[in-house]
Amino acid sequence: MLQELARALGECQPRPEDMLGCVARHLNGAGFGFDRVAIFKDGTGRFDPVPAAQYGFEDLEVLHGQLPPVDEWPLFQRALSAEEAVWAADAQLDGDVPLEVAGSLRIRSVVGVPFVAGGHCFGFGLADRRGAAFELTQEELHTLTTAGRFVAAALVGATATEREHRVSELKSQFVALASHELRAPVAGIHGVTMTLRERGDDLLPEQVRVLQGTLYEQSDRMRRLVDQLLDLSKLEADAVEISPRRFPVRERVESVLRQVVPDKLEHIVVAVEPGLETLADPDAFDRILANLVTNAVRYGAPPVKVSARQLDTHFRLWVEDAGDGVPPEFAPRLFQRFARGRADASDGGSGLGLAIAQSFAQAQGGRLIYEDGEPRGAKFQLVLPVRKDQ
Ligand SMILES: Nc1ncnc2c1ncn2[C@@H]1O[C@H](COP(=O)(O)OP(=O)(O)OP(=O)(O)O)[C@@H](O)[C@H]1O
Ligand SMILES: [Mg+2]
Repeated sequence: MLQELARALGECQPRPEDMLGCVARHLNGAGFGFDRVAIFKDGTGRFDPVPAAQYGFEDLEVLHGQLPPVDEWPLFQRALSAEEAVWAADAQLDGDVPLEVAGSLRIRSVVGVPFVAGGHCFGFGLADRRGAAFELTQEELHTLTTAGRFVAAALVGATATEREHRVSELKSQFVALASHELRAPVAGIHGVTMTLRERGDDLLPEQVRVLQGTLYEQSDRMRRLVDQLLDLSKLEADAVEISPRRFPVRERVESVLRQVVPDKLEHIVVAVEPGLETLADPDAFDRILANLVTNAVRYGAPPVKVSARQLDTHFRLWVEDAGDGVPPEFAPRLFQRFARGRADASDGGSGLGLAIAQSFAQAQGGRLIYEDGEPRGAKFQLVLPVRKDQ
């Protein structure tokens, strides 16, 4: 039976869903001879009672909604703590599965098989003989336990392959988007230089000034993009050096503001106690703050408020504004590369700022969080853990 299962798993696509389908088929009929099978999958720490694959347990789908997650079912808990296949003589009488399940599906004897590898449970198989009473020998249970371990090991491999695929897909998507973004300023610069080269002598001073303006804007945009892309690739390769230093927060904030929004200072409130110090990488801190403040000025509305506090185990810095905030449908993608809320490219943004700021926060063991402002606006919070030597 195990050989058959091994062969079938070897032949199916190395995708978790396909493999679970294959396992369900094998527990059912041919190999192990159960009549009904449901396979549940770990949905990051929770086992949803909707089967990932099943035979004859269609009604579970209908019951879903009222059911507790599978990891709370006694049969599952027993199987998990023993890391073995477990059998129950009468699930209705003994409450091995929730009564609504046992009752409406007329489950009597039932077996539960955990898919455990390396101390982690990847899935759980439930099988019965369509409500009939049956017994399993120690040997049969042992075979099922082995089958479960075997399936788990195969799932580990398949999950890793799937993750690799996703990562490489994300990479090619990134390269495609990056080249697309770079193409616009490059085309702009090329166009202007062509005009200057071919018709430079015939142009009026006013026309030359317009071309110079475009040249400046487009090259500036390209310079920023190239800087951002370099930052990202360094962050990704863990090649950014983080060297924490102790510095006074208020002075640092004020100096960043003077650099990035010199003409907006009267709209910005800095609510940071003068004596407050923190230990962080000053360059990374500047980059994060500069991104947040530029965004608040660009997409939000005054007043913009920058505040900071050293709390218990964390240093926290907030940048909030009184604009419209981030629309709820966009918020989940806010920190993704190239994600922009408004399809408005005229302001030269590329949607990389927050992705970079988030990476700089993470490189220091911290993170960047978005929340809606009170009563309105956007509120970004930088959280950095206080280092032990602080
Ligand atoms: N304070 C804010 N209020 C409202 N929307 C915001 C705010 N900050 C960011 N956003 C939205 O999030 C999007 C992504 O911001 P991000 O900083 O990542 O990129 P960008 O500003 O568009 O371009 P870049 O920073 O690369 O120049 C913005 O385009 C904007 O739609
Ligand atoms: Mg930005």
